[in-house]
Amino acid sequence: MLDVEQVRKDFPMLSVSMHDHPLIYLDNGATTLKPQSVIQAICEYLSSYSANAHRGDYDLSHRVDETFENVRQKVANFIHAPKKENIVFTYGASDSLNLVAYGYGLTHLQEDDEIILSFQEHASNTLPWFDVSRQKGCRIQYVTLDQDGQITLEHIKETINEHTKIIAISHISNVLGYLNPIKEICQYAHQKGIIVVVDGAQSVPHMPVDVEELDCDFLAFSAHKMCGPTGVGILYGKLNLLEETSPTRLGGGSNSRYYKDGQVTLKKVPAKFEAGTPNIEGVIGLGSAIDYLTQLSMKEIHEYELSLRRYAVDQLLQLDNVIVYNPDAQGPIAFNIKGVFSQDAASLFNTYGIAIRAGHHCAKLLDNYLETNTTCRASLYFYNTREEIDQFIEICKKGDDFLDAFFG
Ligand code: ALA
Repeated sequence: MLDVEQVRKDFPMLSVSMHDHPLIYLDNGATTLKPQSVIQAICEYLSSYSANAHRGDYDLSHRVDETFENVRQKVANFIHAPKKENIVFTYGASDSLNLVAYGYGLTHLQEDDEIILSFQEHASNTLPWFDVSRQKGCRIQYVTLDQDGQITLEHIKETINEHTKIIAISHISNVLGYLNPIKEICQYAHQKGIIVVVDGAQSVPHMPVDVEELDCDFLAFSAHKMCGPTGVGILYGKLNLLEETSPTRLGGGSNSRYYKDGQVTLKKVPAKFEAGTPNIEGVIGLGSAIDYLTQLSMKEIHEYELSLRRYAVDQLLQLDNVIVYNPDAQGPIAFNIKGVFSQDAASLFNTYGIAIRAGHHCAKLLDNYLETNTTCRASLYFYNTREEIDQFIEICKKGDDFLDAFFG
């Protein structure tokens, strides 16, 4: 079982205070805190074997190459990808989704084709598709959310027609937190020759994810939401699809030869996508984060988070001044303090040392579904505790303070 008290000692940020209160960090959907081992791995690279990757012919450089490529293998193992070549390093989940939209979508979509999105999607899985569909004369269709805000296979089936070429949806929504039935969607979509692009930014950090079992075509996620550093993203893709995907950035490291007449011979997947010096310390930090999470066990992390979430939601549901929008989801808890603008509520939580996020959470189409424009979001991770939830609930109860903050 997860020894949370022990685990908390690994995170220097958990000793930080905010407004004279110990930090209660409930904004893990935005980014997670980093354990000492990740900080150490980055420092070690910066202080004892700094060199570029894939370019040098000296020992330090070889060590960097080996460490860097080992991380690619670790990522492949972590999501059960068949080969390390299925893993492309990018600069974030947004960058990964942009690579699919522009590198695959732009070259494979034709006029009159359709792309299915949902109102749950983050801007990163919406805006690139808007742009690509405008450029190619395609249409965007939205899958209907059911009354809880969930995507069902039935609704996907209703939205698919002979024009559908791509379905781009989140595995877990960053606001509503529902786990979408990706495996079933892929099974059905593939019978119709449709590609499924999955935004895994909110799932991969929190649960075991097996891309072979899901059979998704592309999966995007970010290092910084899973105890790693910012500035590193991952794109998993099936090899044949990555081979058909064009790089969206060109430069050193991605070509094997080019000529004065403009001919370029690109390297194989994944090198053809990784032009320029990569975020080496970031990738090394990601490798350390994967070691850390694997040693804790993703299964145990998932079980612990689900029980902590249930503990929080059961208490929130008893408060008359709180609306919870997604009591039975898996991911973040979306809520509002009745009559209080979400950002005013977040500011009041802040004065008690509690960090939550408020607003649209970069999912601005969700107000087509939610009967509110903005929400508060408490997003948990395995280092949060029941005691922290109790303190969070105590602040939620302070209805009068919230109204003072609102009208004051
Ligand atoms: N995508 C991140 C979030 O949901 C930033 O907060």
